[in-house]
Amino acid sequence: MTDLSPADTAKNAAATAAVALVQDGMRLGLGTGSTAVFLVHRLAERVKAEGLKLRCASTSKATAELAESLGIRIETLDDIGWLDLTIDGADELDPDLNLIKGGGAALLREKIVARASDRMVVIADGGKVVEVLGAFKLPVEVIPFGWQTTQALIERVLADLELEGRPVVRRMQGEAPVLTDEGNYILDLALEAIPDAARLSVALNALPGVVENGLFLGICDLAIVGQPDGGVVELVVEEAVE
Ligand code: A5P
Repeated sequence: MTDLSPADTAKNAAATAAVALVQDGMRLGLGTGSTAVFLVHRLAERVKAEGLKLRCASTSKATAELAESLGIRIETLDDIGWLDLTIDGADELDPDLNLIKGGGAALLREKIVARASDRMVVIADGGKVVEVLGAFKLPVEVIPFGWQTTQALIERVLADLELEGRPVVRRMQGEAPVLTDEGNYILDLALEAIPDAARLSVALNALPGVVENGLFLGICDLAIVGQPDGGVVELVVEEAVE
């Protein structure tokens, strides 16, 4: 492949390495975002070249459309039931492979699909690797009904967790609010750093108007981080030594 920027070379390298994990007969979850676009292309090439028989579920309408256009049949998650492997991008990943996702507004379906998988592999470029999650604004999917009340309740949760005053902003595209594939809004939380992600995740999801938040904690098994020179670095969670 020629003419890729260093960032795209890294994304493509991560995607190519992840696609090498795919085996004939697998049930796969396909992620969403610009890195996942490389994933779908590289997967389609292998399917065509090797005649792989796969069953694939998608984390978004956009990925489903791309996959179908490249000859990969998409089935519903419920038709497949359970997945062997999900490969998806991330907006941030920390040393424990906890993630922020949802920059592409697909966090809800992404989390449902990832949790229905034996294994989740993240593909990313090096810019996504952080020590502490939170520089990337945390996406929270909320239902449109009463969304400003939900926003106020989220601000109260943040204050309780010593994150008072952090901006909570509904995501817009031009004049219109961004709608997720489920017809919901996204609120982006500019937290700067998240001291206790587990506590925050539980507190957010306890609010009635919140559908899901973009913290993926303890879900990712392996991160493949692409490099601008086309190499990859694999990150796994270090097991605690007793
Ligand atoms: C989609 O909602 C997101 O979770 C994406 O997986 C994430 O934003 C990564 O996207 P890129 O690969 O485009 O950076």
